[in-house]
Amino acid sequence: MRPINSIIEEVRSEARLIRTFRLDRDLSPRPGQYLMLWIRGVDEIPMSFSGPDCITVQSVGQATEALFEMGAGSSVGLRGPLGNGFTLKGDKILLIGGGVGSAPLAFLGERARASGLAVTSLLGFRSKEDIIFQERFEALGEVIITTDDGSYGIAGRASAGLKEFSLFDYDQIYLCGPEMMMWDVISRTREHATKTQACINRYFKCAAGICGSCCLDPDGTRVCLEGPVITADRLLESEFGRYRRGPTGEKGPCRG
Ligand SMILES: Cc1cc2nc3c(=O)[nH]c(=O)nc-3n(C[C@H](O)[C@H](O)[C@H](O)COP(=O)(O)OP(=O)(O)OC[C@H]3O[C@@H](n4cnc5c(N)ncnc54)[C@H](O)[C@@H]3O)c2cc1C
Ligand code: FES
Repeated sequence: MRPINSIIEEVRSEARLIRTFRLDRDLSPRPGQYLMLWIRGVDEIPMSFSGPDCITVQSVGQATEALFEMGAGSSVGLRGPLGNGFTLKGDKILLIGGGVGSAPLAFLGERARASGLAVTSLLGFRSKEDIIFQERFEALGEVIITTDDGSYGIAGRASAGLKEFSLFDYDQIYLCGPEMMMWDVISRTREHATKTQACINRYFKCAAGICGSCCLDPDGTRVCLEGPVITADRLLESEFGRYRRGPTGEKGPCRG
């Protein structure tokens, strides 16, 4: 699939290092799907949709820094929507987000509310200054926020907020955030693993199921094609939370 051209229509600052880019194209994505964003002359990187025509990006390295140099009117290349996305099920759902990983969950929560589901959210951030989309989540239902430094809400990681809920009350749990935050949640909530859909991150190159860069040990699941949303029972049996492969295929530590 060749990239299509797209113009950035608006850039919004959400937090210290997080911005939302609204594009001139609505690619009709399902929440949890992603696009490959081509920043010409720099790199092509995967980004989840935070709305039908939006991505929300944390600046972490070369490509994202180059994107942050762009404003309304700049052009980028897009391939997508790609991947499986989340599946909405049941009547009552819990969203658990960490940092910029909360962005695709805001999109999912809005779709869920529009379909009449009851939505509760547990969101974890490093600090008060890093909180994103608080109003979007509060418009959906009850929201519990945790911060690592205790500057807002419950002090601690997102898992510190789990005691506020009985997970048995929810038909489905949706999770997205840094890998160790997600691992922390799924390893504490094993009895709910089959109803936990996690949107995960691996190093993507082709995003077409061909190169093998994103494969999960031990069964070779191609995260770019068969994911990025994978149920926690499968993640508990995989490399997830233990190691991940980088651009050369070498094993490295998980982040966050
Ligand atoms: C399915 C999916 C959805 C994502 N959604 C979002 C999102 O909504 N918002 C957001 O801010 N980030 C998202 N990411 C992460 C984002 O793709 C990386 O932060 C980005 O590629 C970093 O590129 P860089 O050149 O700025 O940084 P680099 O300096 O290249 O790397 C910084 C870190 O990002 C990782 N990374 C770099 N390139 C890739 C790649 N092609 N695939 C996966 N990881 C990579 C590196 O391993 C490194 O640890 C998503 C990743 C995946 C796989
Ligand atoms: S990124 Fe190439 S197979 Fe997934």
